[in-house]
Amino acid sequence: MPATIVLGTQWGDEGKGKAVDYLADGMDFVVRYQGGNNAGHTVIAEGRLLKLQLIPSGVLYPHITPVIADGVVIDPRHLLRELDDLRGTGVDVSRLQVSGNCHLIMPYHLELEKVTQRFLGHNALGTTKRGIGPAYADKAARIGLRVQDLFDQKIFREKLEIVLREKNAILTKLYGRLPLDGDVIVDEYMDLAGRLEPYVADTSTLLHRALRDGKSVMLEGAQGTLLDLDKGTYPFVTSSNPVAAAACIGAGVGPKDIDEVWGVSKAYSTRVGAGPFPSEIEGDLADHLRDRGGEYGTTTGRPRRIGWIDLIALRYAARINSLTALVLTKLDVLSGMERIPVCTGYRSQEGAELDHFPYHQSVLHHATPTLVELPGWEEDIGEARREEDLPEAARAYLDFVARFVGVPIALVGVGPGRDQVIWTEVTAPAAG
Ligand code: IMP
Repeated sequence: MPATIVLGTQWGDEGKGKAVDYLADGMDFVVRYQGGNNAGHTVIAEGRLLKLQLIPSGVLYPHITPVIADGVVIDPRHLLRELDDLRGTGVDVSRLQVSGNCHLIMPYHLELEKVTQRFLGHNALGTTKRGIGPAYADKAARIGLRVQDLFDQKIFREKLEIVLREKNAILTKLYGRLPLDGDVIVDEYMDLAGRLEPYVADTSTLLHRALRDGKSVMLEGAQGTLLDLDKGTYPFVTSSNPVAAAACIGAGVGPKDIDEVWGVSKAYSTRVGAGPFPSEIEGDLADHLRDRGGEYGTTTGRPRRIGWIDLIALRYAARINSLTALVLTKLDVLSGMERIPVCTGYRSQEGAELDHFPYHQSVLHHATPTLVELPGWEEDIGEARREEDLPEAARAYLDFVARFVGVPIALVGVGPGRDQVIWTEVTAPAAG
């Protein structure tokens, strides 16, 4: 069976962890293809709350091989800590496979991100400060160190010395910081190398063989479409490509290996960090939804910005990712509202009505939402397990979203528990 991609359609935090974890039941491999420990998945499994940042949530299933593929950047200190934490809660992590092609997040990436974000002042992006941007920048500049370099001390040291010359000059001369000591880094990373080695593999070949042998492979995106370096709200984006096309590059499989692309969206919207967010709301209602939905960053603990579901952005995500199905999470958070606004268009600063996601940064920054109010429902829907268990208004809400976006909703989340989901059959004719 070919591969399925599961990715975020908004600004991350859509509840992908839970969706992936749920779908993982029928999978043999679950693969992360981009990002690093800037991501955060919260999964509730057998009453335990687990926070995963780098390791695919499929690790919780004994029949799944979790894979961290080429496109991911790895902070080895973080990865080993996450492995230790999982082991500590009784999870068997021995099946994890990590690509030797992954780029490493180095101590100077963390240091440089700290000082450059400070230097940007009020123009700072509000990154997760995990060194993600600097690591991907070095990858593109072809001065990155990779996981495979950890296993040849001579090569590791040589590459590090070249890079450190430049990084230390920047740190000391431009930012007035102390230089980093190459010997200390070599010692630390060589120690980490020994502990990482059992997990390192040629993951592209592994996945190729798995697909050839008819295994089921799920490619799991981190962050979301609107944080994509190329297709998101640049420059308020992450430094990798969460979109579907990038799953092939990041995992090392071909486009024809992909069968399904599932897009995960909350029933409303959230965003952490700076950047345009046309359907954003503030005040009591935003506070209420933030508290009800537990909208605080998994990685940084920051309160998330809140808004209504943005169907223009969702339709854009459906188009550029070739979505075959939607997963709508956290529908229960909207219970108890008399009317639920949804964003079905934008108005530009000049008063023009927009029915598509504008490519120009300034237009998007000044866009205001056109909202349609749909009827709400009073009932608690946490116990609903079939579409028929949902109140009429909740079903109408799902139907409106699917029809507007032109993609069927396959799965709906009605609570944080692993079993709090509904498989649906909402049909969707082509979007306008
Ligand atoms: P970076 O990925 O740490 O470079 O941060 C760039 C932007 O992406 C910031 O606005 C972050 O808040 C945001 N971001 C990165 N990872 C996630 C995530 O997993 N969920 C939500 N936002 C994220």
